[in-house]
Amino acid sequence: MKIAFGCDHAGFNLRDAVLKFLNGRNIEIIDFGSKELNENDDYPDVAFKVARAVSDEEAEAGIILCGTGYGVAISANKINGIRAIACDSAEGAASAKRHLNLNVITLGGRFTKPEEVDGILSAWLDTPFEGGRHLRRINKIAMVEGSTLSANLQSGGRVVIFNHPLVQHKMGLIRSVETSVKQFRELLQEIAGLMVYEITRTLPLAEIEVQTPITKTKAHTIEGRKLAIVPVLRAGLGMVDGILQLVPNAKVGHIGLYRNPTTLEPVEYYCKLPFDIEERDIFVLDPMLATGGSSAAAISLIKKRGGKKISLVNLIAAPEGIEKVHSEHPEVDIFVAALDSHLNEHGYIVPGLGDAGDRIFGTK
Ligand code: PRP
Ligand code: URA
Repeated sequence: MKIAFGCDHAGFNLRDAVLKFLNGRNIEIIDFGSKELNENDDYPDVAFKVARAVSDEEAEAGIILCGTGYGVAISANKINGIRAIACDSAEGAASAKRHLNLNVITLGGRFTKPEEVDGILSAWLDTPFEGGRHLRRINKIAMVEGSTLSANLQSGGRVVIFNHPLVQHKMGLIRSVETSVKQFRELLQEIAGLMVYEITRTLPLAEIEVQTPITKTKAHTIEGRKLAIVPVLRAGLGMVDGILQLVPNAKVGHIGLYRNPTTLEPVEYYCKLPFDIEERDIFVLDPMLATGGSSAAAISLIKKRGGKKISLVNLIAAPEGIEKVHSEHPEVDIFVAALDSHLNEHGYIVPGLGDAGDRIFGTK
């Protein structure tokens, strides 16, 4: 695990205790200082550095110190995806982690004694996030701030919600009952295409040299990573072309599943995957994550055939579906354009967009 750390002059008295605690747990530290007492430093400067390291996923979590823990917490919370609170007790730290999945903890050098640091930080790190309704709530916060980060401290898949204005605009159109089959298909491909920017964000780059008409320069190329996309039939097919436009060399597998309308259980009828699936970064495509039965079953099937690095890409998810997928496949990242409220008594997402397959293929 990697933790970003920083302090200003008023939190400096806790610095050694925090570093000793982290070293004692063999946690890798990104130390943003101050490494020496500087009475003139300003807490926002160090808070932004730590928070950005967490937001950019260079570190899984952050610890920031100032006199009260308040100033650095307010500053850190300005950075997308950060959930920071000042904690001065182990109970508070455990509760903040359990319910808020606190990814940055702040301590106040004037309120906390060095000998209290171990207890507070242990409670924070060792308490698991409860997920469920708490995940739904923090994802609502993420939607408002435009964050794509819903990092789970201590491993576990992320839920990444896109709220780019273009995606949200098109989501409004695609949900509308007035939207024709032709428009629905076009919108689905367009949204899937826009989602590619985020789902491929962590692909590794290699440096290359390029000769421009003017001079030689360093540039980047995507390091020979193999991709596979696997639409879940039928509705997942509606996302394939939008994604292939941007990653044309990806191989395409297919999994056929339908929901039994009475039991809502997925029924498998087809599976054909690239022969080297175990070597590929796999993106499972399905516009709707409702009960989660279909997506969870599709992921299980891919794992049985050797697939290892699997992410799920949905247009709309219900909290129930996210919980189901993460309970069976906790390491899988889930990318969604919208997180909706709940399922109705027929297992349809509310407000949702109705039956995705029927709207793509005009079968109803
Ligand atoms: C829809 C949708 C998902 C599934 C989601 O497929 O495309 O695959 O329901 O529901 P779940 O999360 O509760 O499993 P459907 O079964 O209607 O089949 P279709 O795509 O062939 O229309
Ligand atoms: N499948 C759909 O197509 N829509 C829903 O709302 C739920 C499952």
